[in-house]
Amino acid sequence: MKPKVFVTRAIFDAGLDLVRAACDANVWEEDRPIPRDILLERVRGVEGILSLLTERMDGEVMDAAGPQLKVISQFAVGYDNVDVPAARERGIKIGNTPGVLTDATADIAFALLLATGRRIVEGADYVRAGHWKTWGPALLLGQDVTGATLGIVGLGRIGQAMARRAAGFDMKLLAYGPRLTDEEAAEVGAKRVSLDELLRESDYVSLHCPLNADTRHLMNRETFAKMKPTSILINTTRGPVVDQAALIEAIENKVIGGAGLDVTDPEPLPADNPLLTFPNVVVVPHIGSASVRTRNKMAEMSALNLIAGVTGQPLPNEVK
Ligand code: GLV
Repeated sequence: MKPKVFVTRAIFDAGLDLVRAACDANVWEEDRPIPRDILLERVRGVEGILSLLTERMDGEVMDAAGPQLKVISQFAVGYDNVDVPAARERGIKIGNTPGVLTDATADIAFALLLATGRRIVEGADYVRAGHWKTWGPALLLGQDVTGATLGIVGLGRIGQAMARRAAGFDMKLLAYGPRLTDEEAAEVGAKRVSLDELLRESDYVSLHCPLNADTRHLMNRETFAKMKPTSILINTTRGPVVDQAALIEAIENKVIGGAGLDVTDPEPLPADNPLLTFPNVVVVPHIGSASVRTRNKMAEMSALNLIAGVTGQPLPNEVK
């Protein structure tokens, strides 16, 4: 008998085919997050769950599954939706998909930096709206990217990939991380500084730290006040790393110069959110890892973690 598993959304076949070959798989068939009550029902009796970041994987879900649950395999690198202590208490392993989405996510972060600095979305909207009547010396002036200072908060895999992209634009690099060493920063051409110095000196501040108790609302009214009034915030990690009410206030009062966001709080961002009224804020719908190749690799990796977990093998990528 194949082990029973539940997959909370239809991922690419690169992963689903593997899961179906090795497991008795039940897949949530709709292209929207599974409602909580149905999730609690559908996980009953499974040995493994393949989860997306849209599902809260807490003790209630684990208990609804039952004591035979061995693994939660997350189709993402971030796993703030998984209650890690609750899983540990129950002896449930957690898998994630680091590495394969590093470049795609850094690409989106750099795209947002260019888009906000050089007013790409505003420019495209201007043309589409029929406002383009002539070339003008002061039309849609933006901020330089080349030679500007980029502050990277969290110099892990994606932060380092961001640094490599920025080096191609001759940017001056500052980096902050609570355990970051001078040597690690120097490896990607960055100078290790305090968070305060990074906020004071940077023309662009890009967030690459995971969401946890220490980083929730890392960007808040006080930290925004330390940034230059022209400085632009880029967020491709998780929405709650930013106190969004404070961000709206900072944009409204011109405390900072703009923001490029792949993540918001909540997600999806309601269409009437004030953030969407500012021309100097660009929001995209959490598409950091959304390239065909990357999502296929994530599907495969999360499938292999799931299968390893239910067959009692070491997970290729286990959250330790
Ligand atoms: C996406 O946000 C991820 O954490 O992989």
